[in-house]
Amino acid sequence: MRQDHLVAAGQLSRADVERLLDRAAEFDAALDAGGDLPASYPEKLLALCFYEPSTRTKMSFEAAMKRLGGDVVDMGGVDASSVKKGESLADTVRVIEGYADGLVLRHPREGAAKMAAEFVDAPVINAGDGAGHHPSQTLLDLYTIRESAGLDDLTIGIVGDLKYGRTVHSLATALTEFDARMHFVSPESLRLPRSVRFDLHEAGAQVREHTELEEVLPELDVLYVTRIQRERFPDEDEYQKVAGEYRIDAETLDAARDDLTVMHPLPRVDEIAPEIDDTEHADYFEQAHNGVPVRMALLDLLFQNHE
Ligand code: NCD
Repeated sequence: MRQDHLVAAGQLSRADVERLLDRAAEFDAALDAGGDLPASYPEKLLALCFYEPSTRTKMSFEAAMKRLGGDVVDMGGVDASSVKKGESLADTVRVIEGYADGLVLRHPREGAAKMAAEFVDAPVINAGDGAGHHPSQTLLDLYTIRESAGLDDLTIGIVGDLKYGRTVHSLATALTEFDARMHFVSPESLRLPRSVRFDLHEAGAQVREHTELEEVLPELDVLYVTRIQRERFPDEDEYQKVAGEYRIDAETLDAARDDLTVMHPLPRVDEIAPEIDDTEHADYFEQAHNGVPVRMALLDLLFQNHE
């Protein structure tokens, strides 16, 4: 990765991903052992600019920065900030850059992080731009897959809201760098956007689309489940038509391999029955925990590149 911003998963080559995941494993091991970290940044401040709700992404960036010895400054909710007074994103990020050494931005508009990165010199991390991308989530997803099923010779099923799910767009893009067979399962109305399908095709990815999970479940190493993104639907009736379409419960998994890994970026609503949580299949809480070492590795890399 040449730039010191992370705005889309397409920026990451296979070598970039492998280097980052190896570095994350070093942070992970050091955190577990309570030993010395491979790097620390006691002088750095990270700005958290979240224009949309977040629990995991925001808190794990905060935890990562604090574990690195630094600290965060938080813009707070949109209602409490000058955004409410009509300030533009470009102005806000230019001001915030003066307070911090890097910016983490989540925004409802696609392309927001890319735009912000044009206005500021400090590293910008896209923590979700509308229905666009969420590349740091992808890094922790890849870390989790590497630990469970491995990234080589992978058969993955990605199910749910493929249209609005930004974690899906980033993950699918990143997987084109690996030897992965991708099965996309969704209702017709929530298929992958044409632009993402085009990019996958251009990259020569092995992709198939389905409406029924049963068609592919027995072959899968990993099942990546996503929430139907209710807040992005222009029409509540359209949401109601597809809500609850692919609920995974113990009975569903009867047809799966014993070593199937079930992932979910979380939050879940009712896509995965709680009875799955205590099974060997469930990896979603581990996946969320991986957010801290992976984001430590990402911050480490971006700060180094920026020097
Ligand atoms: C996701 C997001 O915000 O895109 N959550 C996350 O960052 N872990 C997925 C979602 O909201 O469904």
